Amino acid sequence: MIYAANFKTNHTRKSTENYIVELNEKLRAKHPEDKVYIFPPATALNDYEGDFTIGTQNAYAAHNGAYTGEIGLEQLDEFGIKTILIGHSERREYMAETQEKAAAKFSFFQKQDFEIIYCIGEPLEIREKGFEAVMQYLLAQFEGIDIGYDKLIVAYEPIWAIGTGRSATVEEISTTHRALKKAINDKPLLYGGSVKPANIKEITSIAGVDGVLVGSASLDVESFSQMVLS
Ligand code: 13P
Repeated sequence: MIYAANFKTNHTRKSTENYIVELNEKLRAKHPEDKVYIFPPATALNDYEGDFTIGTQNAYAAHNGAYTGEIGLEQLDEFGIKTILIGHSERREYMAETQEKAAAKFSFFQKQDFEIIYCIGEPLEIREKGFEAVMQYLLAQFEGIDIGYDKLIVAYEPIWAIGTGRSATVEEISTTHRALKKAINDKPLLYGGSVKPANIKEITSIAGVDGVLVGSASLDVESFSQMVLS
Protein backbone atom coordinates (compact mmCIF):
# COMPACT_ATOMS: atom_id res chain seq x y z
CA MET A 1 0.00 0.00 0.00
CA ILE A 2 0.98 3.59 -0.57
CA TYR A 3 0.29 6.15 2.16
CA ALA A 4 0.77 9.74 1.02
CA ALA A 5 0.39 12.81 3.24
CA ASN A 6 -0.46 16.10 1.55
CA PHE A 7 0.07 18.88 4.10
CA LYS A 8 -1.27 21.55 1.69
CA THR A 9 -0.72 24.99 3.28
CA ASN A 10 -0.23 23.58 6.77
CA HIS A 11 2.84 23.03 8.94
CA THR A 12 5.97 25.14 9.08
CA ARG A 13 9.59 24.21 8.53
CA LYS A 14 9.98 23.64 12.27
CA SER A 15 6.80 21.66 12.78
CA THR A 16 7.62 19.52 9.73
CA GLU A 17 11.02 18.73 11.25
CA ASN A 18 9.35 17.62 14.47
CA TYR A 19 6.80 15.61 12.52
CA ILE A 20 9.56 13.77 10.63
CA VAL A 21 11.40 12.91 13.85
CA GLU A 22 8.24 11.37 15.29
CA LEU A 23 7.30 9.71 12.04
CA ASN A 24 10.67 7.98 11.85
CA GLU A 25 10.06 6.50 15.29
CA LYS A 26 6.63 5.22 14.30
CA LEU A 27 7.72 3.88 10.93
CA ARG A 28 9.98 1.33 12.55
CA ALA A 29 6.87 -0.84 12.80
CA LYS A 30 5.89 -0.30 9.15
CA HIS A 31 5.53 -3.23 6.73
CA PRO A 32 8.58 -3.09 4.44
CA GLU A 33 6.40 -3.34 1.32
CA ASP A 34 4.32 -0.27 2.21
CA LYS A 35 5.48 3.09 0.86
CA VAL A 36 5.10 6.45 2.58
CA TYR A 37 5.20 9.87 0.90
CA ILE A 38 5.17 13.26 2.59
CA PHE A 39 4.30 16.43 0.70
CA PRO A 40 5.13 19.37 2.99
CA PRO A 41 4.73 23.01 1.95
CA ALA A 42 7.59 24.34 -0.22
CA THR A 43 9.25 26.19 2.67
CA ALA A 44 9.64 22.90 4.54
CA LEU A 45 11.22 20.88 1.73
CA ASN A 46 14.47 19.33 2.86
CA ASP A 47 16.66 16.28 2.39
CA TYR A 48 15.12 14.42 5.33
CA GLU A 49 16.23 10.88 5.87
CA GLY A 50 13.93 8.01 6.70
CA ASP A 51 11.76 5.25 5.34
CA PHE A 52 9.66 7.67 3.27
CA THR A 53 9.86 9.86 0.21
CA ILE A 54 9.57 13.63 0.31
CA GLY A 55 7.73 15.16 -2.63
CA THR A 56 6.72 18.63 -3.67
CA GLN A 57 3.07 19.70 -3.85
CA ASN A 58 3.86 21.81 -6.90
CA ALA A 59 6.64 23.34 -8.97
CA TYR A 60 6.94 25.42 -12.08
CA ALA A 61 7.85 23.62 -15.29
CA ALA A 62 11.30 25.20 -15.61
CA HIS A 63 14.81 24.69 -14.31
CA ASN A 64 14.91 28.24 -12.98
CA GLY A 65 14.14 31.71 -14.30
CA ALA A 66 11.88 34.72 -13.88
CA TYR A 67 8.76 33.09 -12.41
CA THR A 68 8.03 35.16 -9.32
CA GLY A 69 6.70 33.15 -6.43
CA GLU A 70 7.39 29.76 -7.98
CA ILE A 71 10.01 27.10 -7.39
CA GLY A 72 11.62 25.13 -10.20
CA LEU A 73 13.88 22.18 -10.71
CA GLU A 74 16.95 23.87 -9.29
CA GLN A 75 15.24 24.39 -5.92
CA LEU A 76 14.05 20.76 -5.86
CA ASP A 77 17.45 19.39 -6.88
CA GLU A 78 19.01 20.99 -3.81
CA PHE A 79 17.11 18.49 -1.67
CA GLY A 80 17.16 15.57 -4.11
CA ILE A 81 13.40 15.80 -4.60
CA LYS A 82 12.18 13.65 -7.49
CA THR A 83 8.48 13.33 -6.70
CA ILE A 84 5.69 15.79 -7.50
CA LEU A 85 1.93 16.12 -7.18
CA ILE A 86 0.31 17.40 -10.37
CA GLY A 87 -3.31 18.22 -11.14
CA HIS A 88 -4.67 18.55 -7.61
CA SER A 89 -8.21 19.92 -7.69
CA GLU A 90 -7.21 22.81 -5.42
CA ARG A 91 -4.64 23.93 -7.97
CA ARG A 92 -7.08 23.45 -10.82
CA GLU A 93 -9.71 25.46 -8.96
CA TYR A 94 -7.93 28.16 -6.92
CA MET A 95 -4.84 28.59 -9.10
CA ALA A 96 -6.81 28.22 -12.33
CA GLU A 97 -4.56 25.44 -13.59
CA THR A 98 -6.04 24.28 -16.86
CA GLN A 99 -5.75 20.77 -18.25
CA GLU A 100 -3.30 22.16 -20.78
CA LYS A 101 -1.06 23.53 -18.01
CA ALA A 102 -1.27 20.34 -15.97
CA ALA A 103 -0.31 18.35 -19.07
CA ALA A 104 2.65 20.65 -19.85
CA LYS A 105 3.84 20.35 -16.25
CA PHE A 106 3.44 16.58 -16.42
CA SER A 107 5.47 16.39 -19.59
CA PHE A 108 8.27 18.58 -18.17
CA PHE A 109 8.63 16.53 -14.99
CA GLN A 110 8.31 13.26 -16.90
CA LYS A 111 11.35 14.32 -18.93
CA GLN A 112 13.14 14.93 -15.64
CA ASP A 113 12.32 11.36 -14.62
CA PHE A 114 10.16 12.44 -11.66
CA GLU A 115 7.71 10.15 -9.97
CA ILE A 116 4.38 11.86 -10.60
CA ILE A 117 1.26 11.54 -8.48
CA TYR A 118 -1.31 12.81 -10.92
CA CYS A 119 -4.63 13.83 -9.34
CA ILE A 120 -8.06 13.68 -10.90
CA GLY A 121 -11.52 14.16 -9.42
CA GLU A 122 -15.04 15.30 -10.21
CA PRO A 123 -17.20 17.98 -8.57
CA LEU A 124 -20.50 17.10 -6.89
CA GLU A 125 -22.70 18.25 -9.77
CA ILE A 126 -21.00 15.73 -12.03
CA ARG A 127 -21.27 12.90 -9.47
CA GLU A 128 -24.97 13.66 -9.21
CA LYS A 129 -25.37 13.13 -12.95
CA GLY A 130 -24.35 9.49 -12.57
CA PHE A 131 -21.47 7.15 -13.26
CA GLU A 132 -21.16 7.73 -16.99
CA ALA A 133 -20.83 11.49 -16.52
CA VAL A 134 -18.24 10.90 -13.79
CA MET A 135 -16.11 8.68 -16.02
CA GLN A 136 -16.36 11.07 -18.94
CA TYR A 137 -15.22 13.92 -16.69
CA LEU A 138 -12.37 11.92 -15.17
CA LEU A 139 -11.07 10.59 -18.46
CA ALA A 140 -10.95 14.14 -19.85
CA GLN A 141 -8.40 14.87 -17.12
CA PHE A 142 -6.00 12.49 -18.85
CA GLU A 143 -5.91 14.65 -21.95
CA GLY A 144 -2.26 15.30 -22.83
CA ILE A 145 -1.07 12.94 -20.08
CA ASP A 146 1.17 9.99 -20.95
CA ILE A 147 -0.55 7.21 -19.03
CA GLY A 148 2.17 4.82 -20.19
CA TYR A 149 4.74 6.64 -18.06
CA ASP A 150 6.32 4.09 -15.75
CA LYS A 151 6.67 6.49 -12.80
CA LEU A 152 3.02 7.50 -12.84
CA ILE A 153 0.76 7.04 -9.83
CA VAL A 154 -2.81 8.28 -10.19
CA ALA A 155 -4.84 9.67 -7.28
CA TYR A 156 -8.62 9.72 -7.58
CA GLU A 157 -9.95 12.43 -5.29
CA PRO A 158 -13.64 13.30 -5.67
CA ILE A 159 -13.76 17.04 -4.94
CA TRP A 160 -16.93 16.73 -2.85
CA ALA A 161 -15.09 14.33 -0.51
CA ILE A 162 -12.04 16.55 0.05
CA GLY A 163 -11.93 18.17 3.47
CA THR A 164 -15.64 17.57 3.99
CA GLY A 165 -15.40 14.65 6.39
CA ARG A 166 -17.57 12.72 3.95
CA SER A 167 -15.56 10.10 2.12
CA ALA A 168 -16.97 8.45 -1.00
CA THR A 169 -18.80 5.21 -0.20
CA VAL A 170 -17.15 1.82 -0.66
CA GLU A 171 -19.44 1.26 -3.65
CA GLU A 172 -18.51 4.62 -5.25
CA ILE A 173 -14.78 4.04 -4.75
CA SER A 174 -14.98 0.46 -5.91
CA THR A 175 -16.83 1.11 -9.18
CA THR A 176 -14.81 4.21 -10.03
CA HIS A 177 -11.48 2.52 -9.30
CA ARG A 178 -12.40 -0.54 -11.32
CA ALA A 179 -13.13 1.60 -14.37
CA LEU A 180 -10.09 3.83 -13.84
CA LYS A 181 -7.70 0.91 -13.41
CA LYS A 182 -8.73 -0.33 -16.87
CA ALA A 183 -8.21 3.12 -18.36
CA ILE A 184 -4.73 3.53 -16.88
CA ASN A 185 -3.48 0.03 -17.63
CA ASP A 186 -3.39 -1.00 -14.02
CA LYS A 187 -1.06 1.79 -12.88
CA PRO A 188 -1.05 2.35 -9.08
CA LEU A 189 -4.26 4.14 -8.10
CA LEU A 190 -4.75 6.00 -4.82
CA TYR A 191 -7.99 7.22 -3.29
CA GLY A 192 -8.16 10.59 -1.54
CA GLY A 193 -10.97 12.48 0.17
CA SER A 194 -11.66 12.39 3.91
CA VAL A 195 -9.48 9.34 4.53
CA LYS A 196 -8.92 8.98 8.28
CA PRO A 197 -8.04 6.34 10.87
CA ALA A 198 -11.73 5.44 11.23
CA ASN A 199 -12.16 4.46 7.55
CA ILE A 200 -8.62 3.52 6.43
CA LYS A 201 -9.08 -0.23 6.69
CA GLU A 202 -12.36 -0.18 4.85
CA ILE A 203 -10.86 1.91 2.03
CA THR A 204 -7.58 0.03 1.64
CA SER A 205 -9.50 -3.25 1.50
CA ILE A 206 -11.33 -2.23 -1.67
CA ALA A 207 -10.11 -3.97 -4.84
CA GLY A 208 -8.37 -1.46 -7.10
CA VAL A 209 -7.21 0.78 -4.24
CA ASP A 210 -3.40 0.73 -4.10
CA GLY A 211 -3.11 3.40 -1.45
CA VAL A 212 -4.40 6.71 -0.13
CA LEU A 213 -3.64 10.40 -0.44
CA VAL A 214 -4.51 12.04 2.86
CA GLY A 215 -4.96 15.73 3.69
CA SER A 216 -6.44 16.76 7.05
CA ALA A 217 -5.91 13.44 8.82
CA SER A 218 -2.22 13.43 7.85
CA LEU A 219 -1.42 16.67 9.67
CA ASP A 220 -1.20 14.93 13.00
CA VAL A 221 1.68 12.45 12.97
CA GLU A 222 -0.12 10.13 15.37
CA SER A 223 -3.17 9.93 13.13
CA PHE A 224 -1.12 9.49 9.94
CA SER A 225 1.09 6.77 11.41
CA GLN A 226 -1.95 5.01 12.76
CA MET A 227 -3.18 4.75 9.17
CA VAL A 228 0.21 3.61 7.84
CA LEU A 229 0.41 0.90 10.48
CA SER A 230 -3.24 -0.16 10.19
P1 13P B 1 -8.67 15.51 2.96
O1 13P B 1 -8.02 14.24 3.41
O2 13P B 1 -8.50 16.64 3.92
O3 13P B 1 -10.08 15.29 2.52
O4 13P B 1 -7.87 15.97 1.64
C1 13P B 1 -7.66 15.08 0.60
C2 13P B 1 -6.71 15.68 -0.37
O5 13P B 1 -7.03 16.63 -1.06
C3 13P B 1 -5.36 15.11 -0.44
O6 13P B 1 -4.66 15.59 -1.55
